[in-house]
Amino acid sequence: MRTHLCADLNEKDIGKEVVLCGWCNTYRDHGGVVFIDLRDKSGLIQLVSDPATTAHSVATNVRDEYVLIGRGKIRARGEGLENPKLKTGKIEVILSDLIIENKSLTPPIAIGDESVNEDLRLKYRYLDLRSKKSYNVFKIRSDVAITTRNSLMKMGFMEVETPILSKATPEGARDYLIPSRVNDGEFFALPQSPQLYKQLLMMSGFDRYFQIAKCFRDEDLRADRQPEFTQIDVEMSFCSQEDVMQVAENLIKDIFDVASIKIQTPFRRMKYFEAMESYGSDKPDLRFNMPLFEVSDLFVDSSNEIFKNIALDTRKNRFKALKVDGGDEFFTRKTLGEAEEFVRKFGAKGLAYIQIKEDGAKGPLVKFLSEENLKKLIQRLEAKVGDIVFFGAGDKKIVWDYMGRLRLKIAEDMKMYQDNQFEFLWVVDFPMFEKADGRAYALHHPFTMPKNIDKEDVEEIESIAYDVVLNGVELGGGSIRIHKEEIQEKVFNILGISQEEAKDKFGFLLDALSFGAPPHGGFAIGLDRLVMLLTKSNSIRDVIAFPKTQKATCPLTNAPSVVGEEQLRELHIRLRNPSSKN
Ligand code: AMO
Repeated sequence: MRTHLCADLNEKDIGKEVVLCGWCNTYRDHGGVVFIDLRDKSGLIQLVSDPATTAHSVATNVRDEYVLIGRGKIRARGEGLENPKLKTGKIEVILSDLIIENKSLTPPIAIGDESVNEDLRLKYRYLDLRSKKSYNVFKIRSDVAITTRNSLMKMGFMEVETPILSKATPEGARDYLIPSRVNDGEFFALPQSPQLYKQLLMMSGFDRYFQIAKCFRDEDLRADRQPEFTQIDVEMSFCSQEDVMQVAENLIKDIFDVASIKIQTPFRRMKYFEAMESYGSDKPDLRFNMPLFEVSDLFVDSSNEIFKNIALDTRKNRFKALKVDGGDEFFTRKTLGEAEEFVRKFGAKGLAYIQIKEDGAKGPLVKFLSEENLKKLIQRLEAKVGDIVFFGAGDKKIVWDYMGRLRLKIAEDMKMYQDNQFEFLWVVDFPMFEKADGRAYALHHPFTMPKNIDKEDVEEIESIAYDVVLNGVELGGGSIRIHKEEIQEKVFNILGISQEEAKDKFGFLLDALSFGAPPHGGFAIGLDRLVMLLTKSNSIRDVIAFPKTQKATCPLTNAPSVVGEEQLRELHIRLRNPSSKN
């Protein structure tokens, strides 16, 4: 139908006869001559119709988003009429023929206008996706998927699809359930990840598996979470943690190459506890340093009883200091108040600070420190005039959390990092279990290989698990798995999963472990998150063609929606609170 894509043309094509197809991006009627900016996936080109041509009577009827087929000759734009903002800004097409292939109603959203309410943009997502920016994002997403396949194939991996109608896997979120029509009262679960299937494939001797896999999790949504998302899912046999990490790094390097971003491997590594102690997070953003310092020892003899008691119990509590270079000049009374409000939302009782002034340290905390300890503090933090030091004290998990968040907020507010920085990190040596409400939970998942399963204190048991973090976002994670039945039983035991429950939920995996399971491990990278970071998009929704809203709905199709009584009856379902729509 066409001879070229609009933006592939340039001055070298002057004099050529072309046929172009696309949408009317904008039109201008200059008293006789009509100018149309024609848009296709490549970009824009200006079409011109002179009143003398047959094309002109058609051109005067063109409106925004009409679908057009134009024939004409490329010519140079006149002196002073060039548009340096446009790739094709030095040329235009003088039309001999123009066909309106299809009309369009006035679009409810202007193409590429990001200020439009997101729900409206999602309702008309197909129009929203007409923008150049969206096209570029999805082109990169496609390149990432193709590169992933090529890169893993080169490394000896084979792509295998696993079921979507499956059984619940314990990834920690709620399952999406699918009722079975033919099995009354029974449900499939959509996979939260292909975790157990990929382990089974190792037991089949496939040795190196991968899949670009759809995963489903019914959890609270955030800017980097969707109920339906995509993982680059990998599993391999006869491997150590090092082997798996190497594969992940090679893959990530190949993927970033696609976007012409050179990254350094091997990535930096940090133990889980160091990440928590120094950055208050298991996914520290290392584009800037600004670590947290432990200062309990300087408060054990504080004149303030509350501080003193916190500082004395270092098993349960932490006393953290965060020094902000130049912070005293940056923070005003108002922004100090805002910072306090911010940490209060995450459990802080207040936010103490010390300002380092020309004439010494000032601020509400100074009077609770001896002169000697104040000196030690300043030395430890290498604090200088113009800095501010914030303090967080209390239960360690709460302090890590709000001081970690404060660190991120300050870095953002003070613009401590560049947009084009990519700081990768492996967080390693995660604890295997976490205790809450008097019982143990698996921090990763219960099939992760523990390092020292026989330790008395289960919180001291570490796992062979690793997360890859990019700019403070958890990009992926994985582990070496348990391949021996007796270790798996011990883990279930600690988790309080009875033999019957284990048999019921994962009997197939336990059976498979008893038929010669090889040592194996793997990882999964969140493809959407990766593309989000690679394209510097603000939200994961920008990199998913038809995403769900924060409320897990689709404004385009109106899913989820009520279904008819007949369909429910077939599925053996009676609703507890039938809505008026039923
Ligand atoms: P995990 O649960 O850590 O591991 O998930 C791996 C990666 O998937 C991405 N991710 C998400 N992306 C968007 N929306 C979500 N709701 C969401 N949840 C997770 C993240 C995350 O790092 N089976 C294991 C992997 C393994 O052990 O091999 C798993 O799924 O980027």
